[in-house]
Amino acid sequence: MADLTQPALEKLLEVARQAAQHSYSPYSGFRVGAALELTNGEIVTGTNVENVSFGLTICAERAALVRAVSQFGPEIRVGAVAVANLNGLPSPPCGACRQVLAEFILPDAPVIFPAAGGVRTMTFNELLPLGSEMKLK
Ligand code: THU
Repeated sequence: MADLTQPALEKLLEVARQAAQHSYSPYSGFRVGAALELTNGEIVTGTNVENVSFGLTICAERAALVRAVSQFGPEIRVGAVAVANLNGLPSPPCGACRQVLAEFILPDAPVIFPAAGGVRTMTFNELLPLGSEMKLK
């Protein structure tokens, strides 16, 4: 796992929790926040932004990632991720967010999130062991 200490990860989790305050979630009431620590030292946050068509909803993790690329460019690498919610429920990153993060994240980046039974930290590789790749010959 990339060398971020547990206290540093817990600080990142608190930043994610703060980001969840901005959640726009009138349909589910599930208020999610994400914080990405980039290898350039920057921290970028996102929150979930729902839509009446439901399917157009954007998760907190993807909101943060799109923001990070927009602000700092396509060379960014994500070194750590924290996901939090204000509902006291488990919220590991959804499958779609894992695949989108895969594009920019270091395989051994720690991901901290609330799980059943408490906060968990896993490497990104553990969360998405066989992500889709395109290596054309
Ligand atoms: N949500 C996230 O923001 N991140 C996830 O990884 C899973 C789900 C949001 C989307 C929707 O606004 C709400 O949680 C309920 O699914």
